[in-house]
Amino acid sequence: MSCHKDEKPLVMTMDTSTDKGPGHPLKIECQHDCERCQKKHRQKKVISIKNPILVTVFLMLSSLRVWAQDTGLTAKTFWDDPINHPLFHIYFICVFVFIVILLTLSVAIIVMKVLNVFVEKAALEKASKLGVSYVAPQHWWMKFWQNANAMVPLAEEKNIELAHNYDGIRELDNHLPPWWKGLFYGTIVFAVVYMLVFHLFDSLPLSEEEYHNEVSLAETQARILKASQPVAVIDENNLNFTNDAAIVARGRLVFMSSNCGSCHRNDGGGNTIGPNLSDAYWLHGGEIKNIFTTIKNGVVEKAMPAWGKVMSQKDVRDVAFYVMSLQGTTLQNAKAPQGELFKPKPDTTARDSTKVSALMNNK
Ligand code: HEC
Repeated sequence: MSCHKDEKPLVMTMDTSTDKGPGHPLKIECQHDCERCQKKHRQKKVISIKNPILVTVFLMLSSLRVWAQDTGLTAKTFWDDPINHPLFHIYFICVFVFIVILLTLSVAIIVMKVLNVFVEKAALEKASKLGVSYVAPQHWWMKFWQNANAMVPLAEEKNIELAHNYDGIRELDNHLPPWWKGLFYGTIVFAVVYMLVFHLFDSLPLSEEEYHNEVSLAETQARILKASQPVAVIDENNLNFTNDAAIVARGRLVFMSSNCGSCHRNDGGGNTIGPNLSDAYWLHGGEIKNIFTTIKNGVVEKAMPAWGKVMSQKDVRDVAFYVMSLQGTTLQNAKAPQGELFKPKPDTTARDSTKVSALMNNK
């Protein structure tokens, strides 16, 4: 290997790699600081910028899968069918914009680098015309690094040495590094801004308020969800009596297994504790909604337990339907009527086929 004609070789050694005995050829290591070599080096640097960008894009894309968290739900995720996902076009646009920004940035960096090469070349020519030696400007990052650390070079440490000497351990009077001080002042500024924003002007919500906001948002969403699935939850508001024999039969089973008979007699005719459930007189209303509520919440002060706490809503519904079905049966020795006479309104809802079928689905 030989050096360019306008540069001096750095060292000359015998090339011992080829085993040719005493007549080794000379091995020359070049300085590579001639203009031609430096230009080559710069060009190499400009070209190599592409690779980190490609690697970054690849790494970012390959980690996308990691963001899709496992929610533990069986619902389809984006990755099961990305094309038909409702948010596909939004993701697509985001990725597209991201790639455009990345390309623009990389083109800008390359243009800057090329411009830099020309500027440096011009400065070099100017310097050689003026007959002065050209000093390349320091890279901004190196400048920043040196400013941020403001380290006293090792050779100058003597100047900042304190007079103390503890068994040979000496002490330097170094300043705190500027990056550390910058962080410290930053925290002070942050604290002031935080105070103003969160405590004086209340411009942003505090954690507690944020929590309440999120809870109320979740409640609204839950309400919307509930409204879209009206029969998913059984309560007074979506209850319509139906004479469905299957439900009534199950209700009878619940009535028997829960020992309702101990206070209402096994046939519902009532005893010394509980009232007659087969007559048209009701203490708490004879509408299906009232009966459901009475059984669910109980009348605890009058010894009627709150069954909603110990049985499912479905069981409460079924037993309420069973109690309803007792209406009109004439029982022997039934307890005398208590409460008010209930006159049923003409029932139109039960004939609403969609509601009945919805109810049947919910069995
Ligand atoms: C420990 C006794 C007891 C048991 C067990 C009991 N009840 Fe009652 N229940 C009562 C009493 C007492 C009342 C009357 C409450 C009042 O006076 O306000 C009542 C009232 C009711 C009412 C309202 C009646 C009306 O006139 O408004 C219904 C419906 C009812 N019970 C159903 C049931 C069902 C169904 C069960 C079983 C799942 C059951 N009860 C188990 C004591 C009981």
